[in-house]
Amino acid sequence: MSTADLQSRGGISQIVNREFDCVTPENAMKWDAVESARGQYNFREGDILVNNAQQHGQKVRGHTLVWHSQLPHWVSNGHFSAAELRTIMQNHINATAGHFRGKIYAWDVVNEIFNEDGTLRQSVFSSTLGKSFVADAFRYTHAVDPSAKLYINDYNVEGINAKSTAMYNLVKELLASGVPINGVGFQTHLSLGQMHQDLQRNIERFAALGLDVALTEVDIAVHLPVDASKLAQQARDYESVFRACLAVPRCVGVTVWGISDRYSWIIQFSQGNGAPLLFDDNNREKPAYTAVKNLLSGHH
Ligand code: XIL
Repeated sequence: MSTADLQSRGGISQIVNREFDCVTPENAMKWDAVESARGQYNFREGDILVNNAQQHGQKVRGHTLVWHSQLPHWVSNGHFSAAELRTIMQNHINATAGHFRGKIYAWDVVNEIFNEDGTLRQSVFSSTLGKSFVADAFRYTHAVDPSAKLYINDYNVEGINAKSTAMYNLVKELLASGVPINGVGFQTHLSLGQMHQDLQRNIERFAALGLDVALTEVDIAVHLPVDASKLAQQARDYESVFRACLAVPRCVGVTVWGISDRYSWIIQFSQGNGAPLLFDDNNREKPAYTAVKNLLSGHH
């Protein structure tokens, strides 16, 4: 969620604090938010979220330490040597994970490092440091906050495909080299009616490696305009997503990427689509909310 959900978006903070036992900042802990200038840190927004979570007994998923996007220009265009960039990454991790030490249930240590074909995405990190930045990021984070569960997170890895298989091979390799990685995050940004039939099987293969799996950014975009039959389909899709996670003991949680449809990132980022969340523009519970609620009450 956004910090604004807690502060200035009437009614949403009540929903957050009533319905959820784990929260994650939508933007407040990203590199551009916490270290927009080198060595100058700003954790204000993150602190608001963490404090609110602590007051309400919620866990916090930290998002995210190393990502090619929402990365300040001083990092992406800095033309640093490998040694310098490694130090910059380590300093960023030390400061950020250090600031929140002991308060974060899980960190998305690296985010979106793969291309769709499973090759390593080109970024300032991969091109300057090669693949080693991944293992290093996990080691640095573990050193500064040993109690946080450390995740690799990505999108389009929900089904069994080239990208999720590359992720599978990489985490296997990391585990074999003793890198402190605890979990895999499937972002799970889906479109209506496109539920992956092999989601559960995919979760299971990662779980079989001894890792936790979390669905970290779930939303299910509807092609606008919304109507009752689309909302009913959306409810079925949400239910399938939650069922897949509930079916696997190592699938530890589902995070939805926002509360109210009104403020979802989908409106801005996916032309013609919207209404992807559990609460509508006026914070009313949607059929998807009811479906998830019923499913989860059956499980308690
Ligand atoms: C999105 C936020 O929701 C937007 O507010 C922001 O403008 C861009 O980033 N994958 C991720 C998230 O890991 O951090 C992204 O969040 C959505 C895609």
